[in-house]
Amino acid sequence: MRRLKNATAIVTGASRGIGPFICESLGSRGVNLALVARSEAELRSQARRLQRHGIVAAPVPADLATASGVDVAVAGAARALGSVDILVNNAGLECLGSFHEIQPAALRAILRLNMEGTMQLTRLVLPSMLARGRGHIVTIASAAGAFGVPYQAVYASTKAALVTFMSSIRSEYRGTGVSASAVLPTLVVGAGMYERERLLAPAGERISWALTCRPREVARAVVRAIEQDRAEVTVNRFPLRPVLGLLALFPGAGGWLLRQMGVTDSFSRAADRRRCADTADTPRT
Ligand SMILES: NC(=O)c1ccc[n+]([C@@H]2O[C@H](COP(=O)([O-])OP(=O)(O)OC[C@H]3O[C@@H](n4cnc5c(N)ncnc54)[C@H](OP(=O)(O)O)[C@@H]3O)[C@@H](O)[C@H]2O)c1
Repeated sequence: MRRLKNATAIVTGASRGIGPFICESLGSRGVNLALVARSEAELRSQARRLQRHGIVAAPVPADLATASGVDVAVAGAARALGSVDILVNNAGLECLGSFHEIQPAALRAILRLNMEGTMQLTRLVLPSMLARGRGHIVTIASAAGAFGVPYQAVYASTKAALVTFMSSIRSEYRGTGVSASAVLPTLVVGAGMYERERLLAPAGERISWALTCRPREVARAVVRAIEQDRAEVTVNRFPLRPVLGLLALFPGAGGWLLRQMGVTDSFSRAADRRRCADTADTPRT
């Protein structure tokens, strides 16, 4: 979709983290926005911030981990914007810890939001895009899916699946005017889920900056994916494609690389911190 001016978009996960940066980037191109997440107050404040810059932005509170929430999001966006040209599936949950210790409820929650919520929302916006012969779906996946990040097995698996999901949708609807892209950031420094974890780490415990990027770069990647109709856009300090190519040839190399970069140790310590926090929260009898 080359012309973004006056296009309309749903951006999920718009209340905090990377989402507000994506809204800013699309809004500055003239895209009218429906901001979706659960926290109504934060969505309202994000919408006001965007409106001060002349951007059309409507808060649409909805829980995308439920079927009714997905319906609410689509109906609210249609009320606010009319038709929807762009869907940015950005809302996501992570789940850090040793896989065998993850509670079933946490496992289900991450699958519901990352996989089912994303697929259901995409399914609901497609018919009107197809009828108008115009639309683009962007899903924020993660480089974690390609590397097989330890202590993030569930999260990384959902992200790998989302890359395949976007690739299938892109092939299936080719020639209809509707396209799809996956954006694969590495660890985002400055906002979002990794930044929160980074702030909890003791000073000196830092992973290699070679596998990091900034929220604004992710937001720019979303715009590039739509304007240039790219199948996948990776976001990292250094070009990541050659590394991903090598990982495809030598799948075992991902684990080695993550150990060299300090990611494995850092995530292992983060998993320990969470386990300690969980234990402290557990009432003692
Ligand atoms: N940060 C990173 O290092 C990084 C790296 C690679 C990929 N990513 C991906 O980038 C995306 C954004 O990540 P982030 O770091 O910005 O995460 P974040 O700071 O945790 O924000 C997550 C967003 O999703 C929303 N959300 C959570 N559960 C929801 C639900 N059930 N229904 C609707 N909205 C929900 C949250 O809002 P409410 O709580 O208000 O609902 C929030 O707006 C995710 O898909 C993540 O996997 C992040």
